[in-house]
Amino acid sequence: MSNIAIADAIPAVSKHLYIETVGCQMNVLDSEMVVAALRKSGYALTKDPAKADALLFNTCSVRERAEEKAYNNLFHLKQLKLANPEKIICVMGCMAQKDQKAIFERVPFVDLVVGPGQLHRIPEMIANAQMGAKHQLAVSLSRRDGNVEDIKRSHETFDPLRDPEMRPTPFQAYLRIQIGCDKFCTYCIVPMTRGPEQGRAPEQIIAEAKVLADQGCKEIVLLGQTVNSYRHVQGDKVTRLSDLLQSLHVIDGIERIKFVTNYPKDMTRDLLETVRDLPKCSPYLHVPAQSGSDNILKRMKRGYTTADYYAMMDRINEIIPNAAVSSDFIVGFCGETEEEFQMTVDLVRRCRFKNSFIFQYSVRPGTKGAEIYEDDIPEEVKHRRNLELLEVQNQICLEDNMKFLGRSVQILVEGPSKWSVRKGQTGELRQMTGRTPCDRIVVWDGNIRQAGQILPVHIDDVFAFTMFGTVETNEIVPELLQIRM
Ligand code: SAH
Ligand code: SF4
Ligand code: F3S
Repeated sequence: MSNIAIADAIPAVSKHLYIETVGCQMNVLDSEMVVAALRKSGYALTKDPAKADALLFNTCSVRERAEEKAYNNLFHLKQLKLANPEKIICVMGCMAQKDQKAIFERVPFVDLVVGPGQLHRIPEMIANAQMGAKHQLAVSLSRRDGNVEDIKRSHETFDPLRDPEMRPTPFQAYLRIQIGCDKFCTYCIVPMTRGPEQGRAPEQIIAEAKVLADQGCKEIVLLGQTVNSYRHVQGDKVTRLSDLLQSLHVIDGIERIKFVTNYPKDMTRDLLETVRDLPKCSPYLHVPAQSGSDNILKRMKRGYTTADYYAMMDRINEIIPNAAVSSDFIVGFCGETEEEFQMTVDLVRRCRFKNSFIFQYSVRPGTKGAEIYEDDIPEEVKHRRNLELLEVQNQICLEDNMKFLGRSVQILVEGPSKWSVRKGQTGELRQMTGRTPCDRIVVWDGNIRQAGQILPVHIDDVFAFTMFGTVETNEIVPELLQIRM
């Protein structure tokens, strides 16, 4: 694993890179790392593919549609590459690990294919490509290729550098604490693309959090596929997520700590009590249920029953009564009957999630599900179930947001809202956006100066996905002070 280094001597910009990222937070973080590494080799970011010397596509394989989109985007580059053969095109991320050489066969003008466990090689591989090397491939061992230690080593984490400019805001950052996954849910490709579950060493995580705090980061989001299963063993010292939270909590400058994604079976009383007792830990828990039917959960090999899930919800509500819980669901999994789907609807109604991400099952070659079950639910049924579940969830979102009307909430201000950006608002007065500790989105008419601050906001109106408010502040604005004096 790599050491942390703050980008020291940044060389003069001589080349440009263009990067597109899809997929989960892991990919967003990986892109940040790769850009930071390439900056050290003299690259600057550009939003214009035509201007770029290197074009990177950070891909996702979790559903077929994400892959199709990636291939379509690549095909579109053909003219650009024909006109400028010296442009280097790199496919990185989960699709690179899954499809490997097949990417060169489908899109022959791709120069590099780099899996998520080999990202540290990108700067050197781009340099080789510029010297004429063709079709370079860097992927990790597959889960059946050799012993576990070798496979683990081939899935290296790449967390050496941080790049505040690549983050959605400089005040928030992802911090990887765990790579890979050993749960092998039957529908899921992630254990194949990201390799075995490995907890990063606590010292590295804490050192990285300090670097982030020094860069002005106020909120860190700890990442892992099953982040609450985190364990690191060194000699006889075992570190769990709750221990890590304690260590991160004392870092000056870090004001908020979140962690995603949680695995229901590992949502222990001890972890919940830690979240309750540490004021910087957000009372926000993303714990995907995936289905409300025991039969489907069994076929998914999720390792828990609905009774376990309901017991976990009771535990959460008992220990952190104001917790916001969110979930993921797959509708139309192999063999899902109408009754089984209705059990999912019931679970959503009973659990009252803050929000749910709902996906239509997409068969993934290479998974156990693809091997043993038939993808037998018609697309239109999957689509209908998706809409039905979404409607139930949206109603809950609205009803639960109504409880915030007239209340004051602490907001970490992220910056101008999407609406403000779309409208092209300029100057100081903007519609600003931020999140409550429980991850609800709030917007208000504010000032660009508020970005990065934690401010009290009074909630005036609510919709299912957004709340509208007014900043309550006694902030003394230096310019006004001068006028008064
Ligand atoms: N590690 C996380 C989720 C990773 S993938 C967890 O265990 O919860 C993110 C979400 O994509 C999953 O929660 C699941 O709902 C969805 N997903 C994964 N594989 C899928 C597939 N083959 N088809 C449709 N949705 C899928
Ligand atoms: Fe995929 Fe299951 Fe692992 Fe999540 S826990 S990444 S859904 S295999
Ligand atoms: Fe996609 Fe890989 Fe994340 S498959 S969801 S980018 S771990």
